[in-house]
Amino acid sequence: MAKGRVFSGMRPTGRMHLGNYLGALQNWVAMQREYDCIYCAVDIHALTTMTAQETRNIGSLTHEMVLDWLAAGIDPERSVVFVQSHVPEVAQLHTLLGMVTPLGWLMRVPTFKEKVRQMQETEESVNYGLVGYPVLMTADIILYKADTVPVGEDQVPHLELAREIVRRFNFMFGPTFPEPQAKLTETPLVLGLDGKQKMSKSLDNHVELAATAEETRKRILTAFTDPQRLRRTDPGRPWVCNVYSLHKYFNAERTQVVYDECTTAKRGCVECKAEMAEAVNRTLAPFRARRAEFAAKHGYVREVLAEGARRASAIARATMAEVRERMGLGNP
Ligand code: TRP
Repeated sequence: MAKGRVFSGMRPTGRMHLGNYLGALQNWVAMQREYDCIYCAVDIHALTTMTAQETRNIGSLTHEMVLDWLAAGIDPERSVVFVQSHVPEVAQLHTLLGMVTPLGWLMRVPTFKEKVRQMQETEESVNYGLVGYPVLMTADIILYKADTVPVGEDQVPHLELAREIVRRFNFMFGPTFPEPQAKLTETPLVLGLDGKQKMSKSLDNHVELAATAEETRKRILTAFTDPQRLRRTDPGRPWVCNVYSLHKYFNAERTQVVYDECTTAKRGCVECKAEMAEAVNRTLAPFRARRAEFAAKHGYVREVLAEGARRASAIARATMAEVRERMGLGNP
């Protein structure tokens, strides 16, 4: 049986953190064994919420992010790794899909309302591009006829909309695209060092994968633990402690010991965090070595992305020729 095709995208936010790794990147790496994978730095999507100032940095944010992908084990020989704007066919498909997508569908997407609020805009003042965000995302996926899309829970409404757009297109113009399926990442939400909110760069509660061992130790030692454990002699409650949940990922063999020693106050939070930092550093050591090696190879990321864009373009051009034919536009 032919392998399924995976497409996924990440907005270029620069260096990845532990939350990005456990929540998405690890899964991307694993999927390379079973699928033909296409991984995209979605820079056009990033423009929907960026200021002009931020936009100017997008090249270096993309470079840092892709370095992390490669160091984590995304294999550019096997998978297609590219930058969204390097394959402009996606903008053409986005425009054409815009003709079969009712505005009401887009205005009802919960992430749209949420973004409008976050950006302190109104539905009238917000940029046109933001309304079309899920249409562009649909174009990403179906331009490559991907059937499987690894994403987090928050992207499920977008995937549902993508399927509706595909069904409508196929109904109007004949069967052209497979209906893409979301494949949910199993890793639960990774909280930040504040122990309250999702780990995120913008909240500055994160630990970068590429940080040095010493920086990592310092950051992890600032993490909040069980807020009710005030004295060293109080027993802790690992089930409410984010540091404990990180032990499960980075220090798996020791979780039982950590649990027992915490609940009986045999260990304090400081030593517990120091042990966690060590486990994170141990786990990330090979990643950091590979990252340094790739960063030192002049022009390496650029070459990977150029080759990725070539491979992606070949697929994109074939799909667009078919779409133009189906819609009656025809080809020159
Ligand atoms: N919207 C996704 C996010 O914010 C990123 C994305 C863009 C994407 N295009 C995609 C994800 C296509 C999967 C498939 O995380």
